[in-house]
Amino acid sequence: GNTPEREELIVADATSVDEPIPGAPGPVTHGIPVVGASYADGVALAEEGSTAYVNVLPAETRTDYNVIAELPGKNPDNVVMAGAHLDSVTEGPGINDDGSGTAALLETALLMANSHPQNTLRFGFWAAEEQGLVGSTDYVEGLSQAEQDRIALYMNYDMIGSPNYIFMVYDADESTFPAPEGVTIPEGSEAIEDVYESYYTLVGEPYDDTAFDARSDYQAFIEAGIPAGGLFTGAEVLKTEAQVAIWGGTAGEQFDPCYHEACDDITNLDEHALEVNSDLVAFAMLTFAYSTESVNG
Ligand code: PHE
Ligand code: ZN
Ligand code: ZN
Ligand code: ZN
Repeated sequence: GNTPEREELIVADATSVDEPIPGAPGPVTHGIPVVGASYADGVALAEEGSTAYVNVLPAETRTDYNVIAELPGKNPDNVVMAGAHLDSVTEGPGINDDGSGTAALLETALLMANSHPQNTLRFGFWAAEEQGLVGSTDYVEGLSQAEQDRIALYMNYDMIGSPNYIFMVYDADESTFPAPEGVTIPEGSEAIEDVYESYYTLVGEPYDDTAFDARSDYQAFIEAGIPAGGLFTGAEVLKTEAQVAIWGGTAGEQFDPCYHEACDDITNLDEHALEVNSDLVAFAMLTFAYSTESVNG
């Protein structure tokens, strides 16, 4: 069954409720959202010895599916891959996160469907990213070594039309952004970054670096040693005055004020950002459809 269980929570530490956590459904006590209570209730409950109730959904197993589409090229052993995630958080429809990346990738696939490129093109529409990168991890880890070796590179598109956007490119340079512990950014990733950065330069759009911080579906690919890159226009981080001077928008507001919320709906996009990035998704795919020599030598 799917009936939530009411669980008692004894507040042992009165200092733990301060700020509401962005994206949480209500006030948070000891990291657990207090369902159905107001923020003020949450503060009142944060007294030592007081009692709060949380609704805990029973654990549940569901089946979900990645959707993988492949366009055969002249060379079946050199696969250019790009991906975006199909799922959203339960709180909202997930239009910027990640309808934006999904739509750009789907449009690219449709535009290229009648071509016969040099390299093989593979489009990954991932399941269950929000559950912990489940679909992409399962996919990569399920490939044999020989199948992994055929993938020349992977490009990731997760949140590419944020309403208070800045243009960001995953940075392959570990001296700028050290990779998470135990991970090295595969050689060749720099050449993917270069394609994005030279395109932004070509169309006169400013860009900045962002870190590979293990928060999206490229992670399993870099752990498998596959060169990777991608675009990102920002999530929960607040825009600075310096960034407003470059990209416009609103200082002190999140890049995506509706990140992981119900208001991440069809209005939650910057159309200019989405347009520029959709063109770039196609440009990068087309570039590597001809040759991946800059990446793999
Ligand atoms: N993967 C995050 C999400 O889906 C968003 C994100 C993308 C964060 C890229 C950082 C970098 O919520
Ligand atoms: Zn998300
Ligand atoms: Zn996402
Ligand atoms: Zn860089």
